[in-house]
Amino acid sequence: MKAGLPKKVGIGLLVVLVVLQFFQPNKNQGEKLGQNDIYQVAMTPSLVQTALETSCFDCHSNSTVYPWYTRIQPIGLWMQYHVNEGKEELNFSEFKTYTPKRQAHKLDEIVEMIEEDEMPLASYTLIHKNAVLTEEQKVQILEWAKASAKEIRTKANLPEPSAAAN
Ligand code: HEC
Repeated sequence: MKAGLPKKVGIGLLVVLVVLQFFQPNKNQGEKLGQNDIYQVAMTPSLVQTALETSCFDCHSNSTVYPWYTRIQPIGLWMQYHVNEGKEELNFSEFKTYTPKRQAHKLDEIVEMIEEDEMPLASYTLIHKNAVLTEEQKVQILEWAKASAKEIRTKANLPEPSAAAN
């Protein structure tokens, strides 16, 4: 076998990495809070606000804090993919624009995600240690999300979701 092949593969990879650096994804840097944010819809205690903004807003709002290493590709592209996907599912900055039915359903989903420890994403807390929710924060978020869903449904005359529907 020729010794030159591994070297060529190595150079090829290096070229790919260098070229990748020219692809800087569009950044998510709009208004975090405004007239349509979730606090306009749901009474949110400041402890819960802090938890949401620290642990969820990077992927679920119009404003992401980008650590320096997200300027390195493909890390930044990977992060942006999560931000886009996360915002599409749930955007706290635009929560008020959802129908009451959708708002209540999103709050149900938040309960589910917290109970099952699915959010924040593990790949995110691996680096963002401060985004790991404490047991107390989880209890507070759960209480808040359940009460808010209930209030939204009562105001809009919506039925409680049946236990079977999920
Ligand atoms: C690193 C990015 C990231 C962070 C941080 C994050 N999420 Fe998510 N979230 C996503 C992505 C991506 C999706 C959509 C794909 C999926 O469900 O895995 C999602 C989906 C969701 C959904 C919808 C789930 C469903 O049933 O469709 C909810 C609710 C949610 N996240 C809540 C939260 C809450 C609450 C926090 C903070 C405690 C949080 N997320 C933190 C990326 C994130």
